[in-house]
Amino acid sequence: MAPAAALSAIGIRTCRHRDRAGSRRRRDTHPPTDGESLQVTSTDAANYDLKEEIRDYWSKRSETFDRAFGHHIPEGPEFEAWAAAIRDHLGMEPRRILDLACGTGEITKLLLALGHDVTALDFSEAMLAVARRKHAGRQRLRFRLADAENTMEPENAYDAIVCRHLVWTLTEPHKAFADWHRVLKPGGRLLFFDGDWAKPTRIGRMASGLIALIDRLAGADPYYDGAMGERHARIMERLPFGGGLRSTDLLPLLQEAGFKDVVISSHRPIAAAQRRQADVRNRLRTYLYQRFIICCRK
Ligand SMILES: C[S@@+](CC[C@H](N)C(=O)[O-])C[C@H]1O[C@@H](n2cnc3c(N)ncnc32)[C@H](O)[C@@H]1O
Repeated sequence: MAPAAALSAIGIRTCRHRDRAGSRRRRDTHPPTDGESLQVTSTDAANYDLKEEIRDYWSKRSETFDRAFGHHIPEGPEFEAWAAAIRDHLGMEPRRILDLACGTGEITKLLLALGHDVTALDFSEAMLAVARRKHAGRQRLRFRLADAENTMEPENAYDAIVCRHLVWTLTEPHKAFADWHRVLKPGGRLLFFDGDWAKPTRIGRMASGLIALIDRLAGADPYYDGAMGERHARIMERLPFGGGLRSTDLLPLLQEAGFKDVVISSHRPIAAAQRRQADVRNRLRTYLYQRFIICCRK
């Protein structure tokens, strides 16, 4: 099975990637959706830049995003595991937190439950609309439609920045990290959850094969939230981390931006908690990719 099908752990489908030398590495067999084949794709428009392409991609996924495994954080062991990771790195005190690329507001939900004051920012109006509905009437929460790579938030304003599954899709990571360093208070923390979505691990490849087998025997996963595979692949090809994101690659970038005390920790406790609540296919999905948690300090 192509790794693309398995990327559903973070809601990604991909058909093709290029390595850093630009050669084509792999292709999967997913046809475009009907919707895709009918519409003029955004890359046909000469003045449509990468960031607009990314925003449009996520906007189209906004209504179904929470259905696929790995996005929605259910109550129970998984919720507790994410909360523990945040508590471990940010402490128990209520803090002023910038939730970058909040998407449908799942990390927002955790931060609010932990008593923090949250500014939840995303550049997709459609994603923000879902998050706003989910958290209607909540106190200590404000939403902002803005680019996470250039937040335009005031300097020294936040105790922490938290983001999940954003760093892999940054178009200018140097600029983004510098901006995040700027908006943090002295001693403030950057905490992010991400992974190497371009290459499944060795065990991940086996898990991927098993998922494909189950798909063949039991039918496609009804909770998978849609393909847009070609479209995602075109975006990946143009991203700085499109060939993969390893935690160690980020160390020099973070240091260059001024961050210190970088701690890389394991995502395994969260994956173990996910397995306690997931069906077989989703349990297998927790093995697909190398995930990591990074926390560092201004
Ligand atoms: C994989 S989703 C993750 C959503 C959320 N962080 C979560 O973990 O549930 C990626 C999100 O990042 C947002 N995003 C990507 N690039 C962005 C940028 N430069 N500025 C703001 N939002 C961005 C997308 O709109 C989308 O909502």
